[in-house]
Amino acid sequence: MERNKRMLTDKWYLIGPTEEIRANKIKKIRILGEDIVIFRDAAGVPSAIEDRCCHRNVPLSMGEIKRGCVVCPYHGWTFNGAGECVHIPSLAAEDPIPRTAKVRCYPVREQHKLLWVFVGDESRAEKTAPPPIPEMDQWPFVAREHLFEADLESAAESLLDPYHIAFTHRDSIGTLLGSIEGLPQNPDFHIEVVEDGLIGRYQRENTSSFFEKQYFGNTPQVQVHYRFFYPNLSRLEIVFRDRVLLILEHIMQVDDQRVSMTQITLWKNIFRPFPWFARYFMRRKSDKIVGEDIALLRAQRAIMDKMKEQEGRVREVSVRGDAISLAFRKYWRAKLKETSSDAPEISKKQPPFEAADAPNE
Ligand code: FES
Ligand SMILES: [Fe+2]
Repeated sequence: MERNKRMLTDKWYLIGPTEEIRANKIKKIRILGEDIVIFRDAAGVPSAIEDRCCHRNVPLSMGEIKRGCVVCPYHGWTFNGAGECVHIPSLAAEDPIPRTAKVRCYPVREQHKLLWVFVGDESRAEKTAPPPIPEMDQWPFVAREHLFEADLESAAESLLDPYHIAFTHRDSIGTLLGSIEGLPQNPDFHIEVVEDGLIGRYQRENTSSFFEKQYFGNTPQVQVHYRFFYPNLSRLEIVFRDRVLLILEHIMQVDDQRVSMTQITLWKNIFRPFPWFARYFMRRKSDKIVGEDIALLRAQRAIMDKMKEQEGRVREVSVRGDAISLAFRKYWRAKLKETSSDAPEISKKQPPFEAADAPNE
C-alpha cells in the first residue's frame, strides 16, 4: 500500500448512496488504513470522524448515536459531527471540557445522491471534486459493497477489460453484452487519455440470445462507452438503442491486503413497468457479476504476490486486444511517477500499442 499511498491520498472516496446513511446508525469504513465513522449529526447532515475516542482509544464505532452525536461505549464521552467532544459524564461541574478533547473530522460531500469523504490534506478538499455521475439523479439504481483481497490496480483495470466479459461473466452477462466473437479481430477502442483518466468507446456485435434480442432490440451493434476516473472509479455504459445499462465500480484500498468495491448498477428504460422486479433483478445480477470478478481477482492476487516474493516482479504476456488495459496501466504508472517525483506530465496523445510481454513492474 505504501507504494500507492501518495497517489491515493488527497482524494474523494465514495461511501455509498446518501440514502443508506440512516439517522441513529453508525457506518464504519477503512480507507488507506484510516478508520472512519460516518453518521448523521443533530441536523441530519452526514458527518465523518475518526473512529477513535480521544479519551482511552476505543473505537467509536462500538458506541451508539444519541441526538446526532456518537457516544463512546467505554465512559460515554460524546462527539458531534465536527469531532468535538461535547459531553463528558465524569467531568466535575466546575471543570471545562479539555480543548484537546476532539478527534479528526473529514470533509464530506453529497453529489448526485452519492456521499463522498475526502482523505488526505483537508486544505486540498475544496480544490478537487468527486467525479460527476448525473445519471444517479434520474435513473433507478442498486448499490452493492464487497470487501476482498485483491490488487487495487488489477481490480480497477478489470471493469474496462472488454474480453473478459464473455469468459468471466459467461453465466451472468456473457451474451447480453455480446460474446467474444462479438468483438472484431482488431477493434478500435478509441482510447483517449485525459487529465483525470481514460475515455473511450467501441462496438460489439449483438450476440444476445433470442429472448434478449426480443427485449433489447435487434440492432446489429451494441455501443459500449467506458471511462476511468483516476484513481479508482470505472464506468461502463452499454447502449441498446434507447435502453442503457450503466455499471460503476468504485475501488478503494482498505489496507495492505484488501480492497473494497462498491458496484452501482443503473439502468434506463429497462423493465420500466416493473420497478420492483427491476431492482430485484439488478441486485441479483450485480452480486453474480461481482462474485465472478472477486473469485478471479483474489486468485490472481495470490499468484502475483507469490511471484513478487520469489522473483521480485510479475511476468505477463500481452497482445493487441489488451490495448485498454495497457493504456490504463501506462496512465497509472505515469500518475504513480508524478506523485512520487517531479516526473513529466502525462502525454495526452493516444497511447500506442505497447510491446508484448509488457511486465507489470
Ligand atoms: S475511552 Fe471513550 S470515553 Fe473513555
Ligand atoms: Fe468483470
